[in-house]
Amino acid sequence: MARIAVIPGDGIGPDVIAEGIKVLETVGRVTGARLDLIHFDLGAERYLRTGETLPQSIFEDLRDNYDAIYLGALGDPRVPDMKHAADILLGLRFRLDLYVNMRPVKLLDRRLCPLKDRSEADVDMVVFRENTEGLYVGMGGFFKKGTADEVAVQEDVNTRKGVERIIEYAFRFARETGRTKVTMSDKANVLTYGHDLWQRVFREVAARYPGIEAEHLYVDALAMQLVRAPQRFQVIVTCNMFGDIVTDLGAALQGGLGMAASGNLNPERTPLFEPVHGSAPKYAGKDVANPMGAVLTAGMMLDSLGLRREAALIDAAVREAVRQDRTTNDLGGSLGTKAVGDFLCQGIERT
Ligand code: NAD
Ligand code: IPM
Ligand code: MN
Repeated sequence: MARIAVIPGDGIGPDVIAEGIKVLETVGRVTGARLDLIHFDLGAERYLRTGETLPQSIFEDLRDNYDAIYLGALGDPRVPDMKHAADILLGLRFRLDLYVNMRPVKLLDRRLCPLKDRSEADVDMVVFRENTEGLYVGMGGFFKKGTADEVAVQEDVNTRKGVERIIEYAFRFARETGRTKVTMSDKANVLTYGHDLWQRVFREVAARYPGIEAEHLYVDALAMQLVRAPQRFQVIVTCNMFGDIVTDLGAALQGGLGMAASGNLNPERTPLFEPVHGSAPKYAGKDVANPMGAVLTAGMMLDSLGLRREAALIDAAVREAVRQDRTTNDLGGSLGTKAVGDFLCQGIERT
């Protein structure tokens, strides 16, 4: 029995997570896998209603009593400072010490790729984004705020332990999955302290993996090469902020933000799975959001729980739906969110 905490969140989060749940329940029925899905009301609505973001008792429950957390998205125009998202999403990443943000960039069907003459084999990599430090730590402050002399400082925190564990994770993943190259991307030519540390640690860790090619690219060059020659990449490891940016680009290579999945991981802790996209508020509740990113994320979650066959069924169903153009508008199809979810469930039931 796997216990999964479900946090639909804001905007299109509930729309896409509803389809993810339908798919999980169908997979459970078809394979006999026992999935216990427990719903948590966390997000902008609750914050606006009660002032609560992530109550301590809920945090402890999520930390201690679940095998995984499945989250939609957070972000609501009524909370412009994103206070609730900082507490819930970044809060869970930081407080559960989920130092790996694993974001596969995998093209399921060549017709979805915006690049010309690219096939499925050309876009198949995994980005490992550092997830607990960098510019995300929230250190800094204002001086003379609101005046003409205002100063705003935002610190970029890089620790040896933090840098080493994410680079080590990327190399280990490469070795365990038969991949032969790891690309580390930074901006050490300008960030001469923080990213100098990345350079030194990368060389040290790479030396422990002699069978794996260790490549370095500055992040501007990485962005260019991802578009020009995505087939060069197998595994990318980078800092929190660059990983955020590069994985939206990666999502576009797979067909758009509606197709990208992610997992926030620490082998010792409760993992958190979420699609890469945000809450896209203008599409909320309109039955137009693409649920495939959320569904592929559910597959990734099952895979990490050791339910490999179940994960493979989900992947196959998404692939088939794309092949048959049973998709939402962003992929060129004409179905609504729910109809795509229904088609995926039918596909899983037929197998
Ligand atoms: P977004 O990802 O929500 O949307 C950007 C655009 O991508 C949308 O306008 C839409 O055209 C497209 N898109 C995204 N998901 C889609 C889907 N499932 N189906 C079809 N099209 C899709 O990014 P944004 O507009 O920059 O941010 C909106 C809010 O979400 C903000 O509050 C932001 O901070 C938040 N956000 C949250 C997360 C998260 O919770 N993990 C991630 C990114 C952004
Ligand atoms: C993501 C999102 C988040 C991030 C935001 C919503 C805090 O963009 O998960 O990619 O920047 O990490
Ligand atoms: Mn992002």
